[in-house]
Amino acid sequence: MLGFKSVKAALLISMLGFISLVASGQASAACSFVSTVDSSALAVKGTATDTPEAKEFLETCINPYTKAYAKDPSLIAQKSPKGGKALFGYNGCSGCHGGKLEGVMAPSLRKDGGQGAFDTKWVYAKNATDKGMYETISGGSAGVSGGVMSPWNITLANHVGDGLTTDEILRLIAYIRSEYRGDGEKTWLK
Ligand code: HEC
Repeated sequence: MLGFKSVKAALLISMLGFISLVASGQASAACSFVSTVDSSALAVKGTATDTPEAKEFLETCINPYTKAYAKDPSLIAQKSPKGGKALFGYNGCSGCHGGKLEGVMAPSLRKDGGQGAFDTKWVYAKNATDKGMYETISGGSAGVSGGVMSPWNITLANHVGDGLTTDEILRLIAYIRSEYRGDGEKTWLK
């Protein structure tokens, strides 16, 4: 049993926490991420150079580029800043997933059929949400389809080498969504 004093102390501490949250003006609804590899917490760091879109996503878990690309497809192939399509080729995603996202040595991202069991459905069901797909691209994957994808998010504390910013990952996701030809629901447009 907790003593009366420790209950009081805990109450005080949680009240102080609440007050400092309000005082710092931070929204309490920041999105929290988990690794696709082992469901442990994925510590994505906001950075000073985050774009407004990246900041919005880190707060709300909603990728603003997905609906923007659906509304104005000219953004997909934009040259500067690079739209999702250019980023997909530039970063070598196409080497494994194919130039048309059809799947080569990694699952199709269009999901309209192919050789493998995962060319028609998501390897990880959570990738039907932009938050889930962000977690997979950010922190890498567990190898359920037979191959593993390494982590890409350069803002993760333990990230080694080159990588992508949150904004770039969000633009890549919006591009992948725009190419979806599977028969599942396009939940990301809701
Ligand atoms: C070296 C090969 C390779 C490269 C390069 C690569 N991937 Fe992958 N990717 C994979 C493999 C293999 C999987 C399946 C992983 C698994 O089963 O755990 C995968 C899975 C994925 C998935 C989840 C698919 C699903 O059906 O759930 C997404 C989304 C994805 N990759 C996006 C990207 C993006 C975006 C890039 C470029 C930034 C990229 N990949 C680069 C190999 C690669």
